[in-house]
Amino acid sequence: MIAVLLGPPGSGKGTQAKRLAPKLQALHLSSGDILRAEKAAGTELGKKATDYMDRGELVPDSLIIEMMLGRMTRERGKSILLDGYPRTLAQAEALDEGLARSGLKIHRVVNIDVPDAEVERRMTGRRSCPTCGAVYHVEFTPPGTAGKCDKDAVDLVQRNDDKPEVVRKRLVTYHHQTQPLVDYYRKCGLLKDVDGIQAPEEVEAKVEAALA
Ligand code: AP5
Repeated sequence: MIAVLLGPPGSGKGTQAKRLAPKLQALHLSSGDILRAEKAAGTELGKKATDYMDRGELVPDSLIIEMMLGRMTRERGKSILLDGYPRTLAQAEALDEGLARSGLKIHRVVNIDVPDAEVERRMTGRRSCPTCGAVYHVEFTPPGTAGKCDKDAVDLVQRNDDKPEVVRKRLVTYHHQTQPLVDYYRKCGLLKDVDGIQAPEEVEAKVEAALA
C-alpha cells in the first residue's frame, strides 16, 4: 500500500501517521521530518533546505523529489504512508512516474481538512520532543508534566517555523502550491476527505476507514 496524507500545515498529518503506521504495518515517511534530520546532521541538503523552511516556503522540487524517491526506492516492498509529500503538482507527477517505473501506484489519498484559524491555534501551541519526535499541543494534547516528553522526560521544543508570522506564510504557500493537489487527486478518483476538526482519536478512525 502506498497512501498519501494531504492537508494544510498543522492539520494533523504527522499525528495521524504516527498513530496509524504501526496499525497498518506501514512505514511513516514525513518529508518535513527527513528535512529536519538532514538539517540537524548538518548535511548539504539540510543546509540548502534551512532558509526555505525557516521562511515558510517550499524547498525546491528538484531536491525534494530526489530525496523522497531515493528514500522510497530504498524502502521498496514496504507499505508506505506519505506525510507532507507530494506538495506540488510537479512532485505529484514525479511520484506517479517513479512508482510506475516500479510497477506501483498510489492506493489512496486522504485530505485532512482544517480551517486556517484552527491551523494557527494548533501550530503556535505545538511542542515536540527532540529525542523521540513525539508531538504535543500545550492545550489540546498536553504532556503529563508541562514541558516534558511523556516517553523520555526530555524538554520539549518549539519548531522555528511555528512562529506566528511563519505560520501565516506557510498557509499562503499551502493555498497557492499544495491545495491544487486536492483537485488533482480527486480527478484521479483517489481522494477521500476527512474533517480534521474533531479529537485526534475520532480523526484517526475516519482516516483509517478512508484508507481501507
Ligand atoms: P512539514 O514538517 O511537513 O510541515 P507541515 O506540512 O507544514 O505539517 P506540520 O508538520 O506542521 O503539521 P501536521 O499536519 O503534521 O500536524 P501535526 O500532527 O504536527 O514541513 C515543514 C517544512 O519543510 C515546509 O514548510 C517546507 O519548507 C519543507 N517541506 C516539507 N515537505 C516538503 C515538500 N514535499 N516540498 C517542499 N518543501 C517541503 O499537528 C499540529 C499540532 O496540532 C500538534 O500540536 C498536535 O498535537 C495538534 N493536533 C493534531 N491533531 C489534532 C486534533 N485532531 N485536535 C487538536 N489538536 C491536534
